[in-house]
Amino acid sequence: MTEQTPVTEEKSAKVPALPDAQTVTEVKHYTDRLFSFRCTRPSTLRFRSGEFVMIGLMGDVNPKTGKQKPLLRAYSIASPAWDDEMEFYSIKVQDGPLTSKLQHIKVGDEIILRPKPVGTLVHDALIPGKRIWFFATGTGFAPFASLLREPQTYEDYDEVIITHTCREVGELTYGRDLIESIRNDEMLAELMGEDFHKKIRYYPTTTREESAKMGRITDLIRSGELFEDLEIDPLNPESDRAMICGNLAFNLELKELLEDAGLEEGANSKPAQYVVEKAFLD
Ligand SMILES: Cc1cc2nc3c(=O)[nH]c(=O)nc-3n(C[C@H](O)[C@H](O)[C@H](O)COP(=O)(O)OP(=O)(O)OC[C@H]3O[C@@H](n4cnc5c(N)ncnc54)[C@H](O)[C@@H]3O)c2cc1C
Ligand SMILES: NC(=O)c1ccc[n+]([C@@H]2O[C@H](COP(=O)([O-])OP(=O)(O)OC[C@H]3O[C@@H](n4cnc5c(N)ncnc54)[C@H](OP(=O)(O)O)[C@@H]3O)[C@@H](O)[C@H]2O)c1
Repeated sequence: MTEQTPVTEEKSAKVPALPDAQTVTEVKHYTDRLFSFRCTRPSTLRFRSGEFVMIGLMGDVNPKTGKQKPLLRAYSIASPAWDDEMEFYSIKVQDGPLTSKLQHIKVGDEIILRPKPVGTLVHDALIPGKRIWFFATGTGFAPFASLLREPQTYEDYDEVIITHTCREVGELTYGRDLIESIRNDEMLAELMGEDFHKKIRYYPTTTREESAKMGRITDLIRSGELFEDLEIDPLNPESDRAMICGNLAFNLELKELLEDAGLEEGANSKPAQYVVEKAFLD
């Protein structure tokens, strides 16, 4: 008699596929606090460049119930709407419930991705203008990594100015590399015309490590140094549109500066001159 395969035992030992599972296709680490990854895209998922979704992993087994619950967090989609895959740019919080684990994902692993995109950092929430500003700190760069690869950004505006403020130089790498790759992107050049990349003005600054440009962007706006450096007129409500994504204090300070310059906050339901979203809670 041939040996029987212990079917039941083998089945129950298998880890169940995650709900809304997507497979990780690439992981890149930048610093001990930052990494990016790409994963498969659900075939039915439609989103607007700049939106965010909930992603995560299964949480630990609850010793009382023996059950696991998904551990989900909001994440800006860093890839543009036309991309076949999804990209995310993430913090690593050493004692963070999700990112203490997420930082260890590898190609072939599964993550959970709830296919319900939302958010205010979308072109639909702005009225037409000439210049668009993307103001980011830290991982707040993520939605702009999407919008900088979105053809509509270059169709709608003559100038695209991205400011990114981080504590240290290494924290600028993801953004710097991305802008370099956009400048050499043949597909975007074919779609938008050879010179589309000349519309991009990149203005990275650091606050706690020496770099070519130091200081908080808010201070550089107040002093006028930002406009002097870029050789452009200060903010004005006729031509300028803006999107803000950073920590709460940064968002509030920048909102005040934009309001002082005469810009009004917009929303999906009521487009206006600027929009804002938190890069993380608290
Ligand atoms: C609309 C929205 C979009 C977001 N998009 C992103 C994104 O694209 N990339 C990303 O890394 N995070 C993003 N976040 C934050 C994200 O939801 C989680 O907070 C983060 O992944 C950490 O999860 P955690 O469970 O490890 O720790 P949490 O318990 O969620 O956070 C622990 C602490 O870490 C700090 N922290 C959390 N997130 C960040 C961050 N991104 N940068 C610096 N400090 C942080 C905060 O002080 C927080 O209290 C977003 C949050 C919101 C509200
Ligand atoms: N980045 C790190 O190396 C590091 C290391 C360990 C722990 N953490 C913790 O992680 C959390 C997030 O840190 P983070 O560096 O990712 O993000 P962050 O504290 O939001 O800082 C990101 C950048 O935004 C600037 N900024 C902060 N508030 C601003 C405001 N109101 N107006 C203008 N610019 C402003 C910061 O300048 P300033 O430097 O002037 O504040 C910094 O250059 C913090 O709680 C921090 O204590 C960070």
